[in-house]
Amino acid sequence: MEYRQLGKTDLVVSRICFGCWQLSPKFWGEVAIEPWHEALKAALDCGVNFVDTADAYGDGYAESSLGEYLAAQKLRERFIIATKFYWNFEGKQRHPDTRYEYILRECEASLARLKTDYIDLYQIHAFDPLTVPEEVGAAFGRLKKEGKVRWFGVSNLNVEQMRMYGRHFEVSSLQPPYSLLSRTIESSELPYCRAERIGVIPYSPLYRGLLTGKYARDHVFTDSRSSARYFTGTPFQAIMDGLDELRPIAADLGLDLAQLAIRWIATHPAITAPIVGIKTPDHITGIAKAVEAPLPVDLWHRVAGIVAAARQAADEAADRAARKPAGV
Ligand SMILES: NC(=O)c1ccc[n+]([C@@H]2O[C@H](COP(=O)([O-])OP(=O)(O)OC[C@H]3O[C@@H](n4cnc5c(N)ncnc54)[C@H](OP(=O)(O)O)[C@@H]3O)[C@@H](O)[C@H]2O)c1
Repeated sequence: MEYRQLGKTDLVVSRICFGCWQLSPKFWGEVAIEPWHEALKAALDCGVNFVDTADAYGDGYAESSLGEYLAAQKLRERFIIATKFYWNFEGKQRHPDTRYEYILRECEASLARLKTDYIDLYQIHAFDPLTVPEEVGAAFGRLKKEGKVRWFGVSNLNVEQMRMYGRHFEVSSLQPPYSLLSRTIESSELPYCRAERIGVIPYSPLYRGLLTGKYARDHVFTDSRSSARYFTGTPFQAIMDGLDELRPIAADLGLDLAQLAIRWIATHPAITAPIVGIKTPDHITGIAKAVEAPLPVDLWHRVAGIVAAARQAADEAADRAARKPAGV
C-alpha cells in the first residue's frame, strides 16, 4: 500500500480510504455486519489505515458500528478516522446545522459513538447558507484547543466557499465527488487544492459501484440507485457499452474495472486517497493493487475519453426519455 501526507497535516494516510456510508440502510438497504467487520480487518491487512464516516450515515449507526468494533478489537490507534457533521437528525426532519453550539454538541455525540477521545479529521459535510463561517471557525478553534479534533476538512464545497471558510480555520482537506463519470472539479477545485496543498479525498470513485462493470445488463438495483440517472434503462446500457470498451485496457494492465477506475483517479496529482464504499472483504482486498502505479498520461486521457463518450450517449438517452410524452 502507498501512503501520502494529507495536505499540510501530519496525517500520513493510505492511498485508499475505507468508506462507511454503506451502513446507511435508507440508501443501501440492510448490510450484514459480520462481513463488514471482516472488511475492516481485511483493510488493515492490506495496509489501509484511513476510514471515512459521518454522523448522519444511518443516523449514527455507521459511527457506532465502527466505534464498537475498533474498541472491542483495540484497533482505534491503527486507523486515522475522518467523520463529518452538518445533517441535524435530532428531530423528525433532518436539516443542515453548523451553528456553534450544535457543532460542539454533535462532536461530543460522534466521539461517544466512535468510542474515542479524539477525531483525526472533522469535516463539514456541505455548505450551510444560514450560518456564517466565523461561527464554524470558532467552534473548530475550541475543539482543537480541547484536543477533541486534530484537523478540519470540508466536503462538497467549491473554491469560493473554501476560500470563505479558509479565512476562519485551516482547511486541510476537501471531500468532493470525483470519478470517470463525474469530473466537474477538474477545472477549478483540483487545481486550487493542489496550489494550496489541501488534501483531496474524493467520494463515489466507482460512481456508486457502476464503474466496476460487475452488474449484468439486466441487473435491477433495489436500493437508492434504482432511481439514479445512469442505473436503469437505455442510459445504463450506454454506460455498459463504454465499460465493455474499457475491459481489454484493464485486462492489459492486469486490473479489473474497479481497479482501473481507482487507478485513474489516483493518477491525478491532486488526489490524496479515493474513498471507496465497502460492504464486504472482497470489496477491499485487491483494491490496494489499484494504487501501486499511476496510469501513463496517454492512457489516462484515452480511458477518460471512452467514459466521456459513454456518458454523453447516456445523457442523450436520458434526455430523450424525459421528453417522451407519458404513456409513449
Ligand atoms: N461527502 C459526501 O457527501 C459523500 C457522499 C457519498 C459518499 N461519501 C463517502 O464516500 C464513500 C464512497 O462513496 P460511495 O459509497 O458513494 O461510492 P463508491 O465507492 O463509488 O461505490 C461503492 C459501491 O461500489 C461497489 N464496490 C466497492 N468496492 C468494490 C470492489 N472492489 N469490487 C466491486 N465492487 C465494489 C459496491 O457496490 P454493491 O453495493 O453493489 O456491491 C459498493 O457499495 C462512502 O462510503 C462515504 O464514506 C461521501
